[in-house]
Order: sequence, then structure tokens, then C-alpha cells
Amino acid sequence: MRDNFIEDHVIADKLRHAALRARENAHAPYSHFRVGAALKGTDGAIYTGCNVENATYGLTVCAERVAVFKAISEGARKFVCLAVAADTETLTPPCGACRQILWEFCGDIPIILVNPRGKSETLQLKELFPRAFDASFL
Ligand code: THU
Repeated sequence: MRDNFIEDHVIADKLRHAALRARENAHAPYSHFRVGAALKGTDGAIYTGCNVENATYGLTVCAERVAVFKAISEGARKFVCLAVAADTETLTPPCGACRQILWEFCGDIPIILVNPRGKSETLQLKELFPRAFDASFL
């Protein structure tokens, strides 16, 4: 994020709220595990996502990937920060598949984890996903 403490806190708070609200739209009839995500683009827009499950189970898409793919499909290409919301005491981080996709499109951005009781923690994607395979190897 940018080097502006107050503004960064305002952005982080907005993203937490957006992720918690997006979580309310989760389609999770199989796991009942509801997740929301909110991704801020450098264009200022916030792209949200929720998990969308499927009766096949395997076709389920995580909240984070829904947010990234919505953003990409809207033409956004640079991102500032992502928030992920789930109702767990140990805050829920992005799954491995989502970490790979986030690395591809967002690089080493801050990942804010939050739950509905306001518990929150911020990690860099690189901490969650060290030694990533990416286009630099191709
Ligand atoms: N899920 C997400 O949406 N994001 C995560 O970071 C972890 C897992 C979803 C996938 C599935 O719908 C449910 O949570 C249980 O795995």
C-alpha cells in the first residue's frame, strides 16, 4: 500500500467492511463455510467476491478468485490490497490455489484477514506464498 498511515487505515477498514458484506452473498449450501473478499484496484475501485459452491463440489470457486476474476474482466490490472472475511477465530487465509492466482495478478500485496467480530491481521502475500512459480521462470 502507499506510505500514508491514515489513508491506508481508511482503505483497510473499507476493504474489511466490503469483504464482510460480500460474505453475506456466499453460495455455500454444502460446506456452510461463507467467505467474502474485497480487492482494491489502483483505479480506486473495490472488486468483491464470495465463494460460489457447486453440487459437484470440485467446481466450487473461492471468494478470492471470484474477486480477482471480476476485477480482471472489468479491465483492472493493478491492485493495492485484498481483504478476506470468514467466521473463524483463527483467521482464514486464502487457499493454495488462490495464492497462486493472487500472485499472478496482484504480486506481493498486503492480505488483510478479518472475522465478523473485528479480529484482523495483515500479511504480505509473499509470506503466505514464498518461492512462487510464475512467469519469471518461463
Ligand atoms: N473458501 C474460500 O472461498 N476461500 C478461502 O480462502 C478458503 C475456502 C471456500 C471454498 C468452499 O466454498 C468453502 O470455503 C469451504 O472450503
